[in-house]
Amino acid sequence: MGFQYGTFVSSGLGKQLATTFGLPRPSKLRRHEPGASLINGAVLLAGHGDAPLVAHLRTVLEEAGVQIATQPSTSVAGVVVDMTAIERPEDLESLRGIVGPALKTLAPTGRIIVLGRPVDEATSVPQAAARRALEGIVRSVAKEMRGGGTANTVYIADGADEAADATIRFFLSGRSAYVDGQVVHVAKPVGEVKTPADWDQPLAGKVAVVTGAARGIGAAIAKTLARDGATIVAVDIPAAGGPLAEVANALGGSALQLDVTAPDAGTKIVEHAQARHGGFDIVVHNAGITRDKLLANTDAERWASVVNVNLASILAMNEALIPAIREGGHIVNVASIAGIAGNRGQTNYAASKAGVIGMTSSLAQDKEVLAKGVTVNAVAPGFIETEMTAKVPFATREVGRLLNSLTQGGKPVDVAETIGWFAWDANRGVTGNTVRVCGQMMLGA
Ligand SMILES: NC(=O)c1ccc[n+]([C@@H]2O[C@H](COP(=O)([O-])OP(=O)(O)OC[C@H]3O[C@@H](n4cnc5c(N)ncnc54)[C@H](O)[C@@H]3O)[C@@H](O)[C@H]2O)c1
Repeated sequence: MGFQYGTFVSSGLGKQLATTFGLPRPSKLRRHEPGASLINGAVLLAGHGDAPLVAHLRTVLEEAGVQIATQPSTSVAGVVVDMTAIERPEDLESLRGIVGPALKTLAPTGRIIVLGRPVDEATSVPQAAARRALEGIVRSVAKEMRGGGTANTVYIADGADEAADATIRFFLSGRSAYVDGQVVHVAKPVGEVKTPADWDQPLAGKVAVVTGAARGIGAAIAKTLARDGATIVAVDIPAAGGPLAEVANALGGSALQLDVTAPDAGTKIVEHAQARHGGFDIVVHNAGITRDKLLANTDAERWASVVNVNLASILAMNEALIPAIREGGHIVNVASIAGIAGNRGQTNYAASKAGVIGMTSSLAQDKEVLAKGVTVNAVAPGFIETEMTAKVPFATREVGRLLNSLTQGGKPVDVAETIGWFAWDANRGVTGNTVRVCGQMMLGA
């Protein structure tokens, strides 16, 4: 392993230098462990006006064994602010008044979650302005937080309050360690919201197909979904057959050697899943490649290979997968922040990943998909430590690691945890969303 800034500044001389020169020192993030409590401290519950969601949230948190606080203190590790009742910009003062003091004493790896109603459901212009302002405040708070803490906004549509429980749980938990400064939209649930018998096994009894599962993020997705109770169909190219079999065998799942660009790839997956597992409930389109060059030097072959693997194959496979996925299933696509911010030397890759984001929001509204109660979402990873990013030149790699609010790269498991949450049956109000798992990278929105 080569030089890593994060390791250097956390030990001996590096620590001294970091203190002297005010260099960023990445904090250890709180990641989910089976059996762990939802959050490592009390949660301060507050809101603007009559804060209509607070009573329900109190019950949710109490059921999760979380202690509730009404005042900031050093034992508070999370703050949930119900701003759904705001009418005008002056009402934002309530948020400042709650979060400002709480930030002074918030425990390390703390969580700030701000709840609002969607801007497009506002009944007046000042209300729309105030609602949208929440996003600006929370994204800024996320940049001010220290100690591995995160801040995120959740817009909850009228009538979708209970569908938001899963999202609030996710953001309080260690599962969302590297999700920071994000905005999640919760709509009226697609299909029936089902609370799991055991929150450590939210995918119990489900069958999940994961493409590109032989290594990197795909292997972590397979492992994480299996940890949470799912049976895995691990898909990857024949050349990766060895590691693919290892992943599938270790998890008690099945391996399917397949190039996702093959014209019959979707049919092959459906046949395999039905023959081996009786069907499937979750599809994670993770397989992806890069073939970087400046556009001026990109030939048609380099262009087509990336667009085919990363985007066209998903559209083609879905033709077979959507009719076959079980009712109430979940489709998750892996995009990239390059598809949001663009990236020098990656026009083909950014095209494919931006296309994935467009496909996600459109497919979520598709009649057949809605009729089956299937949710469709995407993750957009930032800098994640994998073989893909290990090949990035040293200076660019260190910049990639540091240019985010958590001043460190994410782990494949961070992407996997977000995908897992998208696939919960308890999470049926989140569909058509793209959530970045990027530690609030400075690139892009
Ligand atoms: N690593 C990052 O920082 C990062 C950031 C943003 C997005 N992503 C995306 O996450 C996904 C996984 O990335 P990774 O870093 O784990 O990459 P990786 O190269 O380590 O793994 C990709 C896997 O996909 C498989 N694959 C490639 N082409 C395939 C095909 N035609 N058919 C079947 N399988 C195929 C590969 O064999 C490999 O096992 C990709 O979609 C990538 O674009 C990664």
